Amino acid sequence: MLHTGRVPLTDDPTDTLTVRLRVKRYNPEVDRKPHWQHFTVEGMGRSDRVLDVLHQAKWFQDGSLSFRRSCAHGVCGSDAMVVNGENALACQVLLADAGDDITVEAIRGLPVVKDLVVDMAPFFAQYRSVLPWLITGAEDPGYGERRQSSAERQRFDDTTKCILCAACTTSCPVFWTNGSYVGPAAIVQAHRFIFDSRDAGAAERLDILGDRSGVWRCRTAFNCTNACPRGISVTEAIQEVKRVILADRV
Ligand code: SF4
Ligand code: FES
Repeated sequence: MLHTGRVPLTDDPTDTLTVRLRVKRYNPEVDRKPHWQHFTVEGMGRSDRVLDVLHQAKWFQDGSLSFRRSCAHGVCGSDAMVVNGENALACQVLLADAGDDITVEAIRGLPVVKDLVVDMAPFFAQYRSVLPWLITGAEDPGYGERRQSSAERQRFDDTTKCILCAACTTSCPVFWTNGSYVGPAAIVQAHRFIFDSRDAGAAERLDILGDRSGVWRCRTAFNCTNACPRGISVTEAIQEVKRVILADRV
């Protein structure tokens, strides 16, 4: 994860920062190419987040600045962007870590709709392609309980934490050069069901992930693991899926 650590936290509430913010802006309807816009945002606290700086810039300086956000607490996944060169959720990056000289760009590899807003449709199409729902088999208990031991639940615990922010997929050099690669996020979501003892769709998903656009595209760059704001071991999840494809059993 990023962080320059240039402005450590203090207990003094009067100790404010003036932040120099550079945002890569692009409106495909009117711009021939992207350009940088500079903002100076005064009166920020060290425990404010990059999202707070973007709000100040939009609300008080240029209302045309576009970005997504919803929860502001690292839960919805809508404000993934490139902060100081690294993928992050703007609502999770403190100024104490990002510093007072900040650059912000849209995540890479997806079409820019405007400024920091990208078209997530290709990302969600790849997500849907791995059948990210519980598939019941012959032992379907109907309305009865689908019981599971804590050890069985633990097997896929890490990948349940995914919030589909796309930080991993859009940090992947394979995805940048080949948009047909299903990408780390879709593999994480597939992992969550493949290793769920209540699910009967593993073979179908492994067929999908074993083809040319699937897990074998991964070059183990670890960018995805480093980018994940939920701390998921993304590369390890991909490796686990590779292993069960090779072993032909979950
Ligand atoms: S695995 Fe992590 S980085 Fe990737 S979409 Fe899920 S939460 Fe975001
Ligand atoms: S705004 Fe929801 S995760 Fe940042």
